[in-house]
Amino acid sequence: DTDALIDRFGRVARDLRISVTEKCSLRCTYCMPAEGLPAIAREDLLTPAEIGRLARIAAERFGVSDVRLTGGEPLVRKEIVEIVAAVRAAAPEASLSMTTNAISLDTKVDALVAAGLDRVNISLDSVDRDHFAELTRRDRLPAVLAGISAALAAGLAPVKLNAVLMPETLRGARDLLAFAVEHGCHLRFIEQMPLDADKQWARDRMVTATTLLDELGTRFALTPVGRDDPSAPAEEWLVDGGPQTVGIIASVTRSFCGACDRTRLTAEGTVRSCLFGDQEVDLRGLLRGGSDDDAIARTWQAAMWAKPWAHGFDDGAPDPETFAPTARSMGAIGG
Ligand code: GTP
Ligand code: 5AD
Ligand code: SF4
Repeated sequence: DTDALIDRFGRVARDLRISVTEKCSLRCTYCMPAEGLPAIAREDLLTPAEIGRLARIAAERFGVSDVRLTGGEPLVRKEIVEIVAAVRAAAPEASLSMTTNAISLDTKVDALVAAGLDRVNISLDSVDRDHFAELTRRDRLPAVLAGISAALAAGLAPVKLNAVLMPETLRGARDLLAFAVEHGCHLRFIEQMPLDADKQWARDRMVTATTLLDELGTRFALTPVGRDDPSAPAEEWLVDGGPQTVGIIASVTRSFCGACDRTRLTAEGTVRSCLFGDQEVDLRGLLRGGSDDDAIARTWQAAMWAKPWAHGFDDGAPDPETFAPTARSMGAIGG
């Protein structure tokens, strides 16, 4: 499989995550600074056509089967419907999804589905309005709930909900799971990774999967059923005998780097081989400099060859000698 995106350790990337903007309508404390991220100049963003060309290379040459649009918040990018259409045209067979906070999804979902979107994962940390406002620094829970209803009404199943494990999330975790079960959404809790712009993350203050399981266990009977597939980040538990499950993405205490099948593009058109590690390789210059697909593909492959083995903070505190929080925060990588 010489034309795949393969790294030094033999991992093959078939899952492409494309960030389309650094802007966001929320300011989650685990992700963004209160003032937002520095704006990317318009001309530095990949255009819908450029995104489409890279998606075509990924699908046709590298066998990428899953494309996910991320941000920032992808719905604040004005051309988001065009981007979905461009990726769909480039990769007709791929699963095309988006990770979003769902604000304004109610007005956009029909156009997105018509353009070719298959699925959405929606970030929702709490159904308690005060906790939500504390965590996101914006009192927008009603808008998010409207977006979730719209996604369900549009038939974008399965709708997954992502909740980052923070103290507020833990306090409302049982109510959030009850909400997910009631609405037929698939909830996943995510251990907080050191990707917050404010650099407040600390291993000993993190809410872990174990703590969450204890909390949920006081209201629900949970039966472990493992991962849906080996490269899925979440491990699943049946809720009260099923069929609904709840997932935990234990990116810190039970990391899954060894099975990673991801390649990432930033909104400015660089390849990022890992969430962590700041070595990025530019493709935008090649796109705009008239390079052919072969040259672009080779550069992308070389970037992935250098992918780090693991993020290195799974067992205990990260080694300060080797670990530095990334220069880009989550809001600029897209998770
Ligand atoms: P599905 O295909 O629907 O399972 O999506 P996903 O879970 O891959 O994507 P989503 O954007 O919903 O991400 C959920 C959480 O998993 C976020 O916190 C991501 O940052 C985290 N995540 C996704 N990919 C990786 C990865 O390669 N490494 C690590 N450590 N975390 C990841
Ligand atoms: N750690 C883990 N997940 C995070 N997300 C944002 N910041 C972090 C973090 N520091 C999640 C969001 C979104 C997904 C793309 O990443 O909640 O669902
Ligand atoms: Fe925005 Fe998502 Fe970051 Fe929250 S986690 S600030 S919704 S990009």
